[in-house]
Amino acid sequence: MNKSLVFSILLFFSCVSIAVNKVHIPQLGKDNIEDVIAAMTLEEKVYLLMGIGEPGWKNPETGEKTVLIDGEASRTGAILRLGITATVLTDGPAGLKIDPQPVGCNFTRYCTAFPTAIALASTWNAGLIQNVGTAMGNEVLEYGSDVLLAPAINIQRNPLCGRNFEYYSEDPFLTGKLAAAMVRGIQSNDVATSLKHFAVNNIETNRATINAIVSQRALREIYLRGFELVVKESHPWTVMSSYNRLNGVYTSESYDLINTILRDEWKFSGLVMSDWFGGRDAVAQMNAGNDLLMPGCAQREELIKAIKNKVIEEKVLDQNLVRVLTFITKTRRFKGYPFSNNPDLVSHALLSRNAASEGMVLLKNDKNTLPFNNVKRIALFGKTSYRFIAGGTGSGEVNYKSAATIYESLEKNGFQAVKPLRTIYQQFIDTVTKTATENKQKFIVDFHEELPLSNEQIKTQVQPADLGIITIGRNAGEYNDRTVANFSLSNTEKELIHHVSQAFHAAHKKVVVVLNIGGVINTADWRDDPDAILLAWQTGQEGANAIVDILKGNVNPSGKLAVSFPMTYTDVPSATTFPGEPANDPVNAFYNEGIYVGYRYYDTFKVPTAYEFGYGLSYSQFKYSDIQVNSKEFNNELTVKVTVKNTGKKEGKETVQLYLHAPNVEIEKPLQELKGFAKTRLLKSGESQELSFTLDARSLASFWTNISSWVAEKGDYEVRVGASSKDIRLTAGFKLPQTVVVEKVHSVLYPNRPLIDLSKSSK
Ligand code: BGC
Repeated sequence: MNKSLVFSILLFFSCVSIAVNKVHIPQLGKDNIEDVIAAMTLEEKVYLLMGIGEPGWKNPETGEKTVLIDGEASRTGAILRLGITATVLTDGPAGLKIDPQPVGCNFTRYCTAFPTAIALASTWNAGLIQNVGTAMGNEVLEYGSDVLLAPAINIQRNPLCGRNFEYYSEDPFLTGKLAAAMVRGIQSNDVATSLKHFAVNNIETNRATINAIVSQRALREIYLRGFELVVKESHPWTVMSSYNRLNGVYTSESYDLINTILRDEWKFSGLVMSDWFGGRDAVAQMNAGNDLLMPGCAQREELIKAIKNKVIEEKVLDQNLVRVLTFITKTRRFKGYPFSNNPDLVSHALLSRNAASEGMVLLKNDKNTLPFNNVKRIALFGKTSYRFIAGGTGSGEVNYKSAATIYESLEKNGFQAVKPLRTIYQQFIDTVTKTATENKQKFIVDFHEELPLSNEQIKTQVQPADLGIITIGRNAGEYNDRTVANFSLSNTEKELIHHVSQAFHAAHKKVVVVLNIGGVINTADWRDDPDAILLAWQTGQEGANAIVDILKGNVNPSGKLAVSFPMTYTDVPSATTFPGEPANDPVNAFYNEGIYVGYRYYDTFKVPTAYEFGYGLSYSQFKYSDIQVNSKEFNNELTVKVTVKNTGKKEGKETVQLYLHAPNVEIEKPLQELKGFAKTRLLKSGESQELSFTLDARSLASFWTNISSWVAEKGDYEVRVGASSKDIRLTAGFKLPQTVVVEKVHSVLYPNRPLIDLSKSSK
């Protein structure tokens, strides 16, 4: 046989043998997930149970570049041999946060900055929030991301929490209902949300280690309730555990929180990820069902070793992997969606502007100062008038293209801002920004002390102006809480308001204060000075335009407070325990105000507030009438109806709130709790609308720790329907004949340190 014949025969047999031995490699999406997992190496499993590192990091083994979208928060890795594609995760709650100018690309990827969550919540308009979510989700989809790391729904327990602007409210019902709408909107695009930060992340000081010590009742009724509502109503694809410890255990390592409550009780079937670098023990996180460690990479060796040393069972990893892979198969990236990099930013900007004006709260309006009447020339005080604060810092930021300042928007709308004043502020802003380093430049003006003006400087602005506006700004963000000094207005700010008011009033001219803030501040010690106060919040890129819409009267304000404004900081129920102890470097935070957070405390303990929960003025008036309760006895469900009529001259919307006063025989309860809310459509002068509310058994129930159950106590209930928590317009009663155990749950997550909750009998 010649050599070439021998070679051909050998080649033939080797091909046959390859064909015979060729094993089928399972492919994600085509084969069972269990088969895909079975085909994975240990290293591959561990690789997928965590993100592939911080953006910009390059995997030394594969050379894989971590960034798919510049500005992403991280991503999960691809294993191409198994058909597993990468997924991209991006922040955040006020809109998509990515880098607008991708390296080497000839296009831009600006995103829409929507109003911050605290401003959205002040709309009390679930439909509008769902529309905002739909638009945000569309940008997520069209810019090629898979997960928006939002909404953030921790309770605003204390005004100093640095992230309050990212959170909705002090009330879990309002939070839950509105955030459920946000999740519905975002996920209608087939992209994921990540409901965060689960749970009890109400403090930024030492956030990665602080231990929140909370009673089981406060947990169930206040801190978990919003999450429960969103999970049950809107099924977020993912949940993000928080940084803090809860009753001694890191939330990302808490089996009771993640498995017993979230998965078992609430039937959450999605993926749980850690917050970035959250938790300490990767094995405990895996055992707790925290499926994905973010941003990952650091724990890789630790997990591989743990499996080899049998410290963790591989089947635990497999269980978590099922959830990771199920999530991946749902993403549009996995399905090959050809994202356009071209969302409809024009229509989103319009939506952002509408949402912004609807979230603004008119706090004061003496003698109909607003809307403007015969106002053309405006003296515009306060650095923030020339530098609008669209949103907070950190992962809650959005890289939008531009945001008009209040000054620019007034000018665009035909008003004239007094020139010398503008020059003074512009020079101040230029000087401040010149001293900044590149990195801090963006926010340096926001955090800088207000420019002091002399009385003379102020007085010279009166003559050329018809009215004065003073803007007060505050910014904050993750890592730090605000200080008590930051909660108060500085002397410079108070003097500015006082002297401007004095000077303008002396000339019979009016003064408006605009609050461009992301969290509650003190208003009680200066609010008497100006004629009107507009709480504009941090309302995204269109915020300044929306302010002018309200000042001019194009929009009738309909926002109401989703958080109480106390008279002073010391009135806040957690004032003495925030952020924790020891005060200089907190380890433990005792939530010993228990269930008495926000209005639950102020109302029950008769502590006056500057502006109560649910408060907000309109340019119109609304009359409430015809309350009807469909039964005098509660039997599973009850319907309450009221009629609201616009009795004013301007068309407008009204938010109607339903509070319930429950019997307090077996356990004590807050004076009243929000159990329903509804907003009218835009009612013309003289027009009426009937609104309907439904109460189910859970609405009547409180958490009884002794039997670990939600219980509706028998007795007389009072339905209170009002324009705010203090402005109750109509009441009606019904009876619950027998005490009902509505739901029994697990007795888990008890405090690891002695804790005595505030009680009516102890105060
Ligand atoms: C924040 C999260 C955010 C994550 C990714 C963390 O520091 O707490 O809210 O989603 O970073 O940027």
